[in-house]
Amino acid sequence: MRELSLHVMDIVQNSLSAGASLTEISVTEQGKQMAIAIIDNGRGMSQEQVKSVIDPFFTTRTTRKVGLGVPLFKMAAEQTGGSFSISSELGAGTRLTAVFQTTSVDMIPLGDINSTISLLIRCNPDRDFLFRRAKDGKEFTLDTRELRRVLGEGVALDAPEVMEWIDAYLAEQTETIFGGTI
Ligand SMILES: Nc1ncnc2c1ncn2[C@@H]1O[C@H](COP(=O)(O)OP(=O)(O)OP(=O)(O)O)[C@@H](O)[C@H]1O
Ligand SMILES: [Mg+2]
Repeated sequence: MRELSLHVMDIVQNSLSAGASLTEISVTEQGKQMAIAIIDNGRGMSQEQVKSVIDPFFTTRTTRKVGLGVPLFKMAAEQTGGSFSISSELGAGTRLTAVFQTTSVDMIPLGDINSTISLLIRCNPDRDFLFRRAKDGKEFTLDTRELRRVLGEGVALDAPEVMEWIDAYLAEQTETIFGGTI
């Protein structure tokens, strides 16, 4: 994949398939490092599953044998000289962290992470997402649980005016806190 945001989309699909009601996505840049963490409260995995999930020949899919989402994300991080870790507990959830060395020639650009977050919310209005973006001490968050509280019962997150607000908020926060860098 050419953009890390596409990996994020893929990894979050696993969380949603695992029944997560809340998925936290954080992108933290500090100096020459970028860490991407995806934490969910889905059904989790056994320790044996966790070990084999980074092996491309492990998958619970029945349609095809090879699951590549996690191994490809791991490879994207490790090829920059970074690191990857996954931990999970059955019935509790899963946490994946990938650290990238941004100065590496093998670093893939983050891409349009705001569109990824927006699309995730639009396509899964019944799930909650906590998005956090930080760079050298500055940060912003978007928490759909907070939005729900403000909007009240009658308004769905995927209502056009809500999605418009979300897109504007993400763009504006990115612009003011990161000087427009995406
Ligand atoms: N967040 C998660 N919670 C629970 N199980 C997970 C999670 N992420 C991955 N898994 C398990 O690990 C397996 C491998 O995941 P991976 O994304 O690598 O492949 P896949 O989803 O099976 O296929 P692909 O992503 O290539 O379409 C999944 O089938 C699932 O059983
Ligand atoms: Mg997958």
